[in-house]
Amino acid sequence: MKIVTDPKKMTLLVREARRQGKRIGFVPTLGALHDGHATLMAKARKENDIVVVSTFVNPLQFRKAAYERYPRDPEGDRALCEKAGVDYLFAPSAEKMYPERFDTVVEVKELTGRLEGAAIRWHYRGVTTVVAKLFAIVEPDKAYFGKKDPHQLAILKRMTEDLNIAVQIVPVATKRDRDGMALSSRNRLLTPESRKAALALPKAVAEIERRIKAGETDRGKLTEALTAMLSSAPGVTIDFAAIVDAETLREEDRSGPTLIYAAVFVDGLRLTDNRVV
Ligand code: PAJ
Repeated sequence: MKIVTDPKKMTLLVREARRQGKRIGFVPTLGALHDGHATLMAKARKENDIVVVSTFVNPLQFRKAAYERYPRDPEGDRALCEKAGVDYLFAPSAEKMYPERFDTVVEVKELTGRLEGAAIRWHYRGVTTVVAKLFAIVEPDKAYFGKKDPHQLAILKRMTEDLNIAVQIVPVATKRDRDGMALSSRNRLLTPESRKAALALPKAVAEIERRIKAGETDRGKLTEALTAMLSSAPGVTIDFAAIVDAETLREEDRSGPTLIYAAVFVDGLRLTDNRVV
C-alpha cells in the first residue's frame, strides 16, 4: 500500500492506473477507521482493480471544537487499510486541500434542507464541497458510502447526478456491534456509562421498525412514540426524530420505503441511527 499526501500526485497515480485499463474504487472517510469503514473497503476491493481510501478530517463540515475533538489515529488507519488490501491511502493535510485562496462552495440546495438539514446546512455544504473535490482528485469509477448516513447519501447521489460526475455511488449496509449499536468513529469517545445510555438510540429505532412491520402506518403517531422513547431515556438528549419517505426524505411522500431516522446527544457527542423498512 502506498500513502499519498499530495492531491496532484494522487491524480497522476490514478490516471496511470486508468491508462492501464484499471477500474478505480474509492472510499472517502474522516479516518479513525473501524469495521464499518472496512465493509465499504471490502466491497470496493471486490468490485475494482484499484482501491483508494481517503482519510481527511474535513474542517468545512465541523464546528471548531468538534473538529479538534474528532478522533485521529493515523497508525490504526494505516493498519486497517493494509489489512483491507487498499492500494492507495490518500491522507492530505488541510493546507493542501484548502490553500489560502480556496473560494468555492458546492451545495445541493433543497434536498439538504430536509430533515435536520435546515439547521446544519453549513455541515452538508462542507460535505458536498469536499466530496466534489475528492472526486475530482481521485476520478473514481465507483465510490462507496454507508447507509448509516442516509441524508448524506441522498445528497451525494443528487450532487453527482446534477454535476454529471461520472462516478457510480454504491450504498453499503450499516455495520453494527453485537449490542446493536452502529459502529462510529465517535463511539470511541464514549465512556462505558455513556455508551450504555446511547444504546437507547438503536433500541428505539428498532422498536419503531417492529411497529411498522406489525402494520402501524400513522407516521405522526410513530414519530411521537420515537420522540417519547428518546426523550425519556436517561443520559440522552434528543436532537431530532423523523419518519419519512426514504427517497424524497419527506414525511408526506409514500413512493419509496420508509426511513426511521434519529439523532441524539450523549456526553455532548452527536450520534445518529436509522433503519429503512
Ligand atoms: P465517516 O464518518 O468517516 O464515514 C465514511 C463512510 O463510512 C461514510 O460513507 C459512512 O456512511 C460510512 N460508515 C460509517 N459508519 C458505518 C457503519 N457502521 N457501517 C457502514 N458504513 C459506515 O461520512 C463521512 O466520513 C464524511 O462526511 C465524508 C463523506 C468522508 C466527507 O468528509
